[in-house]
Amino acid sequence: MRLAILFSGRGSNLNAILARTFFKATVEVCITDQPQAKGIEVVKHYAKPLIILEKQEQQTKADYDAALIAILQSLNIDLVVLAGFMRTLSAEFCEVFAGKCINIHPSLLPKFKGLHTHERALAQQEQEHGCSVHFVTKELDGGPLMLQAKVPVFSSDTVDTLSERVLKKEHYLLPMAIQMLAIGEILWSNNEVLFNGVPLHGRPAYEL
Ligand code: GRF
Repeated sequence: MRLAILFSGRGSNLNAILARTFFKATVEVCITDQPQAKGIEVVKHYAKPLIILEKQEQQTKADYDAALIAILQSLNIDLVVLAGFMRTLSAEFCEVFAGKCINIHPSLLPKFKGLHTHERALAQQEQEHGCSVHFVTKELDGGPLMLQAKVPVFSSDTVDTLSERVLKKEHYLLPMAIQMLAIGEILWSNNEVLFNGVPLHGRPAYEL
């Protein structure tokens, strides 16, 4: 399985992926939309191919996504991994890569889609919080779940302590999801996620 990792920021999930060796999967390219992203140093550290694809002022979203699709197709990418990629992807992109694009999100989806998940979990006095890996569809953070990991929320928590606790789980969960897809333990078929051949019906394969 040929992987592309897309990122926009510090790249700690990217690092968790590049630090791993996968059975039946290799990282073919890392792509960022942010020329200043800290994750670029991570890519250099592991000497992986890097493409900086910045959105040009005159470029429409559709044009940008078309350029991204063209790159991924030219490299015969089988799985696109969004590791903190902060652009929403067009319906066309989601269609082309249906079942071949996953994202890590720092909440127990379907709770807290979108941004500032840790702030919102604290404000709502959640007892538990966590992260999810899901397939990407045109509904923001709304695609079918693959895996989730939970952490407790303590009354003494701040956004920093809680996000750090969740991030540790993210670094475990995203590589695990990649490995499960690479060996075919989970797959997307006819708009349904199958775990060892059994439909998940919107529930994650594992809740860790
Ligand atoms: C992570 O919290 C991830 O869940 C979210 O964006 C953040 C990226 O962090 N999608 P990093 O760049 O991987 O450190």
